[in-house]
Amino acid sequence: MANKLSASTFLEYVKNRRTYYPLSKDISLSADQIDDIVKVAVQNVPSSYNSQSNRVVVLHGADHDKLWDITSEILRAAVPDDEQWKSSAQRMDWFKGAAGTILFFIDQDAVRGMQDRFPAFADGFPAWASQSTAMLQFALWTALEADGLGANLQHYNPLIDKRVAAEWNLPATWQLNAQLVFGGRTGETYPKESKPVEETVKSFRS
Ligand SMILES: Cc1cc2nc3c(=O)[nH]c(=O)nc-3n(C[C@H](O)[C@H](O)[C@H](O)COP(=O)(O)O)c2cc1C
Repeated sequence: MANKLSASTFLEYVKNRRTYYPLSKDISLSADQIDDIVKVAVQNVPSSYNSQSNRVVVLHGADHDKLWDITSEILRAAVPDDEQWKSSAQRMDWFKGAAGTILFFIDQDAVRGMQDRFPAFADGFPAWASQSTAMLQFALWTALEADGLGANLQHYNPLIDKRVAAEWNLPATWQLNAQLVFGGRTGETYPKESKPVEETVKSFRS
């Protein structure tokens, strides 16, 4: 079978992934299509010793809106100053105005299970689980934007953890790690500067 995959195609997707906000609810993918993308990524992103510590919750429509109402309420209590609240309030409006949010969790049961099985590497498993969820976050961010959506990555954990677990009845062992907000693009992203590769990459070939 001819190999239709190539690094250059993949790197086009990598270059195409950016942070977009604000986002709209107007998207070209159905909730089922988004869930299917999520399922493929969850099953194929690597984890240490194939421990499969990643857990994901996808919130569409009113569930997405509810997440940002909850976050807004909790954040408002944590930022009592009216002036400081203004910029947070604007961000809350942006996020709620998007189409959906993917919540990323690490299952602490899976991490502990690996620590019990491989005590010599016990210290490594929490960091490796973080690396695995980060790979999943990157894969989904890139995949959704490859299909023309916009997305941005947020971190309102641990502030919102308890309310999220209660609202969507999630296992206590699922620890929230990040929130990927997705929706329709409403404009272009800003130009991004990258450090010169001479400073960041070394290559040896003796
Ligand atoms: C690990 C990580 C954490 C981030 N956390 C946040 C965040 O909490 N809020 C946010 O708005 N952007 C967050 N970002 C987005 C970065 O600010 C953004 O990726 C960076 O400025 C580069 O811009 P780009 O995404 O357009 O390439 C995060 C990105 C990474 C990789």
